[in-house]
Amino acid sequence: MSQIRTCVVGVGFIGAAHIEALRRLGYVDVTALCDSRNSAALAQQLHVPKAYASYEEMLDQERPDAVHICTPNVTHFPIAKYALEHGIHVLCEKPLSYTQEEADELVRLAEASGLVHGVNLHCRFYPMVREMKELIQRGDLGRIFSVHGGYFQDWLLLDTDYSWRLERACTGSTRAVADIGSHWIDAVEFVTGQRITRVLADFATFHQTRKRPVQQVASFENKRVQAGQYEEFPVDTEDYAQVLFQMSSGAKGSMIVSQAYAGRKNQMILSVAGSQRALHWDSESLNELWMGERTAYNHTIVKDPALLCSGSAALCRYPGGHVEGFPDAFVQSFGAFYRAIQTGEAGAFATFQDGRREMEVCEAIARSAQEQRWLEVVPDRR
Ligand SMILES: NC(=O)c1ccc[n+]([C@@H]2O[C@H](COP(=O)([O-])OP(=O)(O)OC[C@H]3O[C@@H](n4cnc5c(N)ncnc54)[C@H](O)[C@@H]3O)[C@@H](O)[C@H]2O)c1
Repeated sequence: MSQIRTCVVGVGFIGAAHIEALRRLGYVDVTALCDSRNSAALAQQLHVPKAYASYEEMLDQERPDAVHICTPNVTHFPIAKYALEHGIHVLCEKPLSYTQEEADELVRLAEASGLVHGVNLHCRFYPMVREMKELIQRGDLGRIFSVHGGYFQDWLLLDTDYSWRLERACTGSTRAVADIGSHWIDAVEFVTGQRITRVLADFATFHQTRKRPVQQVASFENKRVQAGQYEEFPVDTEDYAQVLFQMSSGAKGSMIVSQAYAGRKNQMILSVAGSQRALHWDSESLNELWMGERTAYNHTIVKDPALLCSGSAALCRYPGGHVEGFPDAFVQSFGAFYRAIQTGEAGAFATFQDGRREMEVCEAIARSAQEQRWLEVVPDRR
């Protein structure tokens, strides 16, 4: 199998995770990275051969097969467009772009290019999330009545907590919804095979004013900023969103996302209740899946490739009893993307069409929160 040459743009929190996961694939060489600050030091630290401060220069010089885009949301569009126009396969972090128009344009360019395009909506690649999908597909839950859950974090709880995500100019029309709701929305449509058709949303911004560190900080590094190194700024994005929705089959749903929930570091909850059974998955114990019964004991399905459905078993790299988590889902997500490059196999990774879809739901949520009424989501264009 020939080695694939890849470059990574943006090496803060998630760019470093991409590089680690790519190396675990074994057949992808990360030939260079690009970051607008400290790129040489980052390359040295991560043992990447070359460093660039400009993505155009890196892509022109390196001519890689693929590029991973791991920069703040507002920059995704120009980088993805440049790469597609230069014949480079693109794996972009979520959300696909800053605006819906940009997402439309990227889907158009990607479809015309014939290149492989992916969005790192990696929750699809947790074995127990895939098990939910397979059990639902097999009909084990019966008719789906309702879907619930959300995504909770505490890293933006204090008014001194800072990320570029707090600022609309970097993040887009929503913050908590685009940042963590995006994972939940994609997972719920992926798992149920149904579409979110109508939404009613309500947002809260608990800190109307926050303190921005004078120096740039990478995501999740905010807790290390010292007192006195801040400047105040008004916050124009939501800390919290509550959303009621309806699905294409008539199922009802609710989602809450919060980045100001003390003690919850990175918890995603996905519950699906059907006419026969219910399933409940919690990312804080992500190797387990609760199954609720009416006429038998409830039980917990534990990750074990020897026992899971075939698709979810294929996502396990280790036997039962050996915990797999966040970095492993990245390996699986990227593995599917690179198989598509090598073999043309479609795979279950999220494409630019999926990224656009997830943004359409987020846009409807943002407008609903603004107008305080139920709104239709545009029909699925995938
Ligand atoms: N899939 C996931 O679970 C997940 C998790 C975290 C972040 N993300 C996504 O990844 C992206 C990055 O988030 P992060 O948390 O790593 O942010 P971060 O702030 O930690 O890192 C971003 C990096 O990009 C660099 N950068 C900014 N503009 C650039 C440009 N024009 N060219 C080159 N480098 C540039 C910054 O210097 C920084 O090092 C976001 O879109 C975010 O939504 C996804």
